Amino acid sequence: MEKRTVVITGGNSGLGYQCAKNIALKSKNYTVVLACRNKNKAVAASESLRNETGNPNIYSLELDLASLASVREFHNSFKQENYPPLFSLVCNAGFNLPALAYTKDGFEATFGVCHLGHYLLANLMLPQMMNNGRIIFVSSDMHNPPKVIYPTTPAFKNSMELAYPEKNGKITTKSLMMRYPMAKLSNILCTREMASRIGNETKKHVTVNAFNPGLMTDTNFMSPNISKILRPIIAGFATLLSYVINQHGSSTESGKHLAGLVTEQQYEGATGKYYFRGKEEKTSKPAQDKAAAKKLWIESAELVQLKQDETILSRK
Ligand SMILES: NC(=O)c1ccc[n+]([C@@H]2O[C@H](COP(=O)([O-])OP(=O)(O)OC[C@H]3O[C@@H](n4cnc5c(N)ncnc54)[C@H](OP(=O)(O)O)[C@@H]3O)[C@@H](O)[C@H]2O)c1
Repeated sequence: MEKRTVVITGGNSGLGYQCAKNIALKSKNYTVVLACRNKNKAVAASESLRNETGNPNIYSLELDLASLASVREFHNSFKQENYPPLFSLVCNAGFNLPALAYTKDGFEATFGVCHLGHYLLANLMLPQMMNNGRIIFVSSDMHNPPKVIYPTTPAFKNSMELAYPEKNGKITTKSLMMRYPMAKLSNILCTREMASRIGNETKKHVTVNAFNPGLMTDTNFMSPNISKILRPIIAGFATLLSYVINQHGSSTESGKHLAGLVTEQQYEGATGKYYFRGKEEKTSKPAQDKAAAKKLWIESAELVQLKQDETILSRK
């Protein structure tokens, strides 16, 4: 196998870290770039990955998905580094914030980071990708959350409502709860639209798939802003609950499956699909809505002010 590079957003912890670890273990021909918002955490994670895997080709570059300028700067810095050709982009970073927050560009943060930041990044990186390259968007089964808690199935209507919720009516508990499911639904719609645009508009053989890691109780996802003392208590409670609802999983296990989507032969050529750990799975009906996917694509291009010379795909 020729030397190749894999970029993983949010590779400093949880699922992203485990994915990086498994790719680095697979072969020293893989260079792994952790694209992270916190430089210190990223440097520490790359050092720890080099020690754990014996693969010296692990680097970090700064990327804050909550800033369009930072996404564009990351792309420029990446081009200046002398890494092997780009084989895969794993759009993994994400969160489910308890309170309303905004990105540097004024977008609601869940939609802004999980979808808009990755949408821009994937468009910018696509021209650099080698033939048979692979893009993966980490989504979630929360794109279709349990009916007991979320009576309405999330369906995409328009990006402005998601990017600027306060301008589109009163913020309610329900609208706050829907931010994460809508962002993860957007990841799947974006996956399908990008896969189809690459196939229809370019000669590039780059696949695009979505990945659902399932519930993982050992990451920082459950308690991003909580003190180190409380974190194990919350993680312990979440683990117990996950066994009760028969949904137990870990980043160690899901990280192997996510790495597999990057490295394994069996996924070659598969595109526009949604995988739950290693198996292809059906999505909700609204995640199969082609008109919604197209609308999201066009509106996202407007929101991130994607220029035609920044992408090889059409913006309309
Ligand atoms: N845990 C679950 O049960 C579960 C279930 C389904 C799907 N997922 C998805 O899995 C993915 C990984 O989550 P995880 O469970 O591994 O949680 P995690 O340990 O909290 O990892 C999330 C990563 O995203 C990074 N990140 C957050 N905001 C960012 C930004 N603005 N720019 C760049 N990076 C940013 C975090 O950086 P910092 O370390 O600096 O905060 C961290 O590295 C997410 O997309 C999540 O939605 C998780």
